[in-house]
Amino acid sequence: MSPKPAEDRRYLMPFDTTSTQQLFTDCLVIGSGIAGLRAALEASRYCDVTLVCKENAADSNTWNAQGGIASVLGGDDTFELHIADTLRTGCGLCDEDIVRLVVRNGPELILQLIEWGAEFDKIDGHIDITLEGGHSRARVAHALGDSTGRGIAEALLRKVRNSPTINFIEHFYAVDLITDDAGACIGVIGCRPNVGCEIIWAANTVLATGGAGRLYRETTNPRVATADGLAMAYRAGAVLRDMEFMQFHPTTLYIAGASRALITETLRGEGALLVDCNHKRFMPEYDPAGELAPRDVVSRSILDRMLKTNSTHVYLDIRHFDKGHFRCRFPLISELCESFDIDVSTDLIPVRPSAHYMIGGVRTDPSGRTSIPNLYACGEVASTGLHGANRLGSNSLLEGLVFGKIAGVTASRQVNHGLNQIRHRMKIEIPPSDRSRLDTGDIVNSLRAVMWRNVGITRKQQPLTEAREIVQFWQRYVMDKVFDDTVGWECQNMLTVSWLMACAAEQRCESRGVHYRVDFPETDPAFATHIDLQRPL
Ligand code: FUM
Repeated sequence: MSPKPAEDRRYLMPFDTTSTQQLFTDCLVIGSGIAGLRAALEASRYCDVTLVCKENAADSNTWNAQGGIASVLGGDDTFELHIADTLRTGCGLCDEDIVRLVVRNGPELILQLIEWGAEFDKIDGHIDITLEGGHSRARVAHALGDSTGRGIAEALLRKVRNSPTINFIEHFYAVDLITDDAGACIGVIGCRPNVGCEIIWAANTVLATGGAGRLYRETTNPRVATADGLAMAYRAGAVLRDMEFMQFHPTTLYIAGASRALITETLRGEGALLVDCNHKRFMPEYDPAGELAPRDVVSRSILDRMLKTNSTHVYLDIRHFDKGHFRCRFPLISELCESFDIDVSTDLIPVRPSAHYMIGGVRTDPSGRTSIPNLYACGEVASTGLHGANRLGSNSLLEGLVFGKIAGVTASRQVNHGLNQIRHRMKIEIPPSDRSRLDTGDIVNSLRAVMWRNVGITRKQQPLTEAREIVQFWQRYVMDKVFDDTVGWECQNMLTVSWLMACAAEQRCESRGVHYRVDFPETDPAFATHIDLQRPL
């Protein structure tokens, strides 16, 4: 299907290549999470690389990942079991070849990470692996206790910063992918402080811009996760797939004024219980796997319990944990709880679900290619086929690692036009809007509230339609503006991607994986297929 938003602009900003500062690179990588860093390192073995990220290198979902990275690392685990768990969780929409590829490449790439300095937590000299919901075996490795993402990203960043063939630019806000007359990607137009607008011409571009959690009022995601890469790719004409599948994490700290910090699922893997406001354990009433049921089931059960008890949250009970072990094993959460005067040996931790991981994304093939020539995607922004309709916890760092490498190889070895041919003369003109000034902060807040209410954990036709129509209405007077700051561009990107998500969720008239339709509670074999969205060219 090819939807058409109310305002449909190819570029968000005007530019003239004859008067804009320019850089040239063989391979441009956008994003500094695990996928972007791994892609840049791989590509840098074969060509010169420019790596850009929106804010500081550490501002990514990877950096915040607590729970870990899933892989077959010991015990009685096997590739076949990890593959079967991933396929079962994906509810019929995984690409089995991709699942096999990712699972089989995991152990080798994790060992390489260790060679590069990542220090995974160990027990008796072996990587300490834990159990998480949906996994039939303990296979989740972690680093620095509950700061796994940071542990991995620091090792990759050290290597990136030491690489003579990677030019790493932080605080570069990529506004739009530039495409030539044939529709091929030839670089990006963006902005950075003290430099202004800048074009980076690239023979090949890897999109690794992460997810879209900030489209929701409640989210575990950092401030940067505003769906920029998804929106850029859509404007450039890429096919986006499965945009209805947003994964909600069941347990996010719920304290007024506190950021919605993730309380890792590993806690439940190690015996934490969920109790309601009457301190009654409730998960066994909803699923025989109790607290270790798949995330979508736990999130919906919590929501139902909150409604039934007229409460804004439920609690995690870890009062039975050994306090010393907890502090050692979960230093981040321990510090967080202490900072709000929660003594976990006597107090309960207030939690509720929130938007966590964008399963859908820019459609890629097994080599990381998108539908746009010379554009590749990896990590959360991509839809590789690994997760299907539901992501198995801790499979995303694994996917970023494996597909970061794959996209890096493909992008650096792709034979296409040389750099000399991509220096384009282009002048993009956009008439100024004569409408009044906007309070973009207010629009973003309203959008996040609508997405949470209408395109959230449970969905229904009429609220979905209402959300799409509200977003369309806002688009009419926001998308025709020419902003010159990040806040404005982010607002435009968030509107575009919210609209796509509402459209896809409206179309999928069934329940599957993380997409739960109250009006169509069953899985319908007629929908055992993907929903592709593409901007009409
Ligand atoms: O609960 C967690 O630590 C989350 C892990 C993940 O999203 O993969």
